[in-house]
Amino acid sequence: MPADAKTLVNPVKPTAESQAQAKKMYGYDCAVCHGENGNGKGDLAADIKPPLKDYTDPAALKDLSDGEIFYIIKNGKGQMTGEGDRLNTDGVWNMVILVRSFAKK
Ligand code: HEC
Repeated sequence: MPADAKTLVNPVKPTAESQAQAKKMYGYDCAVCHGENGNGKGDLAADIKPPLKDYTDPAALKDLSDGEIFYIIKNGKGQMTGEGDRLNTDGVWNMVILVRSFAKK
């Protein structure tokens, strides 16, 4: 990951519409591994070692900055393929907001 990825600030203000769109794309591209509500128990999760994190736990993503999450969603990491050009930049930022919103308050 490039050093400046970490400090990128999310420029996107989420709207109900943009989050609904992010949720739809998440259902297509992410839920199969990370689970519909981010709990890490999607259909493919059993094949993934180490186990996927549970994003409903607020501790799961606390050590990652928004910029780092953006970079991973865009480019992938390890066994995860990134969105690449399937989502535009704002779409990826909305996905960052969505993934963070899975954490139970
Ligand atoms: C093939 C299964 C798979 C799919 C599909 C997938 N991921 Fe992942 N994801 C992973 C794995 C495995 C990791 C851990 C990678 C590592 O640390 O080596 C990961 C890591 C992450 C991380 C970093 C935090 C963490 O859990 O380590 C985020 C955020 C994330 N994924 C979000 C998404 C989003 C959003 C999508 C859809 C655009 C997606 N993932 C699609 C398997 C997947």
